[in-house]
Amino acid sequence: MLNSTPLLLTSDKKNLEIFKREIEQTVNSICESLTNDKAYEGLSPEQLQSNLKGIPLLPNQGLGFEKVLQKVSEIILPNFLRTSSTSYMAHLHSPALIESIAAELILSTFNQSMDSWDQSPIATEVEVEVVKQLCQLFDLGKDSDGVFTSGGSQSNLSGLFLARDIFCKNNLNWDVKMEGLPENYSKFKIYTSEISHFSMEKSAHLLGLGYKAVRKVPVDLNGIMDINILEMMIESDLANDCLPFCVVATLGTTDYGSIDNLDKISILCKKFGLWLHADAAYGSGLIVSSKYKKRLGNISLCDSITIDFHKMFLLPISCGLFLVKEAKNFAPLSFHADYLNREEDEEEGYVNLVGKSLQTTRRFDALKVWMTFQVRGKNGYSNIIDTCVENAQYLYNKLLDDKYFEVAMKPEISSLVFRLNNTDEVNKKIRKQLLHQEGIVIGQTVYNNKTFLKFTLLNPLVTHLTLDSIIDKIKVISN
Ligand SMILES: Cc1ncc(COP(=O)(O)O)c(C=O)c1O
Repeated sequence: MLNSTPLLLTSDKKNLEIFKREIEQTVNSICESLTNDKAYEGLSPEQLQSNLKGIPLLPNQGLGFEKVLQKVSEIILPNFLRTSSTSYMAHLHSPALIESIAAELILSTFNQSMDSWDQSPIATEVEVEVVKQLCQLFDLGKDSDGVFTSGGSQSNLSGLFLARDIFCKNNLNWDVKMEGLPENYSKFKIYTSEISHFSMEKSAHLLGLGYKAVRKVPVDLNGIMDINILEMMIESDLANDCLPFCVVATLGTTDYGSIDNLDKISILCKKFGLWLHADAAYGSGLIVSSKYKKRLGNISLCDSITIDFHKMFLLPISCGLFLVKEAKNFAPLSFHADYLNREEDEEEGYVNLVGKSLQTTRRFDALKVWMTFQVRGKNGYSNIIDTCVENAQYLYNKLLDDKYFEVAMKPEISSLVFRLNNTDEVNKKIRKQLLHQEGIVIGQTVYNNKTFLKFTLLNPLVTHLTLDSIIDKIKVISN
């Protein structure tokens, strides 16, 4: 027999009341768990594991909603990493704007799937419209198109996938979709900076090319890909019968936020006939800033772009976007299944978005962008982004003048990599102590073979005072 918890949300009045009650109880529990503004309560992995031990995942009899919510309130809610806390600045992992959480509730409640129109009628039309307007925002021209993704890694994989297949078709008269990789696949080369995201290597592996296909180009002191070396590497590879097919520019590197020069890279891509993909997973937020948009450079030069809304745009995970300058270049991703996306559908006006995506079942993440962009407007978003950029600039100026610290490089976006002038061990100890004793979560990385600390400033509620007080704490711990 089914227990008393109703199974599904229907139009039945009693059922609707239960839905409202459970959502309200959940919201209350969330609010009650936020008793302070620490980023983390500090529990160790062992403590968290011991809290979970002995709770059967699948009890013989269901416990009902209230008992389970009670357990969530005791064990899980207090121990979340609180992304909205101004003491959280470890990663490119943002807090979620309040209205975007409401959007999540709506899209999860109705559980649309974006693969075919008959699984998501209005949702498909919203995504199509959102993508159209975002193509304009990113200056990609009238032939551009795009699709929502699970995030930057999937968008980067999509870019390299299209670049590889289109190179094979145009340059080798080879159809990868039908034939698989050509014999000389081990000669294929992708160029990207030595500090680009690891999804380049993972994508090359997944595409059957292997890590060795990724040629890492050195960066200058500002973390920007060295164009002269890039040109030399391409020329030398060509002289050795290699097959360069793509350059990936990073617009906002993961650690430093450094931005490669699209104008210069694009000249080389045109000269050698290479696809230009921009990984703007981090930097794409600058597009809505009146003051700092220029830092991104001329995006219209790109063949494809990775954009993440779950970073600077402060939308809940997941929310990524992949854009291409020429819609026809989505062709390698298309596939017709009789039960899903019939060939005649499009002629009859039914758009099936599965033809542009690596996924089949896919979330209606476009709703979060549609709602939040309208709630905030360009001004609201610009203020958010500008605050974060200026916080990083403030911290850079402050630490530059402080003999206790060394700074890796000047920030272009909103992260700062620095270290206390002390041993690696002391820098590592500082991060752990802040995490477990102060509820402050900061990042750690390696620069010039030394341990550095990192503040990734995505939270617009962070003030200069917040930064001053954490820097003071770091000094105290180090003594
Ligand atoms: C520059 C860059 N590209 C891609 C990614 C991967 O994005 P995601 O985590 O959304 O897959 C990241 C993640 O931080 C990133 O910093």
